[in-house]
Amino acid sequence: MDMGLKDRTVLVTGASSGIGADIARAYAAEGARVALTYRGDSTAGQRLARELGADRDTAMALRYSLAEPETVESAVAEVTRRWGGVDVLVANAVRWAPRRAPGEHFEDVPAGDWTAFLADNLAPTLRTVQLTVAGMRKRSWGRIVLISSHVALDGHRGQEFYGAAKSALHGFARSLAWDLGPDGVLVNVVCPGLTATERVRGGLPAEVRERETRLTPTGRLSSPEDIAGAVLFLGSAANGNTTGQIVTVAGGR
Ligand SMILES: NC(=O)c1ccc[n+]([C@@H]2O[C@H](COP(=O)([O-])OP(=O)(O)OC[C@H]3O[C@@H](n4cnc5c(N)ncnc54)[C@H](OP(=O)(O)O)[C@@H]3O)[C@@H](O)[C@H]2O)c1
Repeated sequence: MDMGLKDRTVLVTGASSGIGADIARAYAAEGARVALTYRGDSTAGQRLARELGADRDTAMALRYSLAEPETVESAVAEVTRRWGGVDVLVANAVRWAPRRAPGEHFEDVPAGDWTAFLADNLAPTLRTVQLTVAGMRKRSWGRIVLISSHVALDGHRGQEFYGAAKSALHGFARSLAWDLGPDGVLVNVVCPGLTATERVRGGLPAEVRERETRLTPTGRLSSPEDIAGAVLFLGSAANGNTTGQIVTVAGGR
């Protein structure tokens, strides 16, 4: 199937590692030009950009930090300056919440901590959409994929603020679909389940991964490539008329 991505420009935020890196690879494999962002790990970002063709100008790595609004503006401005705009936006970057200490409750989290967490995750993501969508509308074509989490649908102990930040994207996309639909721009949300990234494989106790696997009809956790496959379809011309949808990729959970 032709995904209609050849020479399209794609911006994938938070793509120096994990799921975002495989999303960037999937678009590059379809002939798209990929701008990928990193926050702290410039080496990993530049390495992936080289792998995806930085020397042929088919990839670039840009700094983008959710907590630094000027980097959000400058990353989009640089893609627009070099490649004329963004055809596909995959908003994947996340600021993780610090784990709560055992016995610490929701109400014990200082207000300044969680308001900053919500502000960092939500506002910059919406701003990135604002900055990229005007060009898509002008060209009468665009695709936006927002990366959420199964936590926004299922809930998870200790993840109230993360769940709040992610589920806000669902309401946002459902409404934005109405505003963008007549102009050929489609916006969808992908909710990964627990995904076997390097960070998850290295950082999560084996018994937690095994428990999560047992709860999954397919009997395995998603790989980053599994998530990338769903994102690639929704964020491509192969997706002709799906918008405002919340798609879970979690092995059937
Ligand atoms: N992995 C899972 O099991 C899972 C499950 C459900 C949903 N998700 C969602 O999937 C997406 C990717 O998750 P992941 O597990 O692949 O993440 P990850 O491995 O932690 O990768 C995070 C990426 O985001 C960048 N990043 C980190 N903090 C940032 C910040 N404050 N501002 C901008 N960029 C930042 C990192 O860049 P640097 O390394 O350069 O700092 C890196 O490129 C997220 O939206 C997450 O919520 C993941």
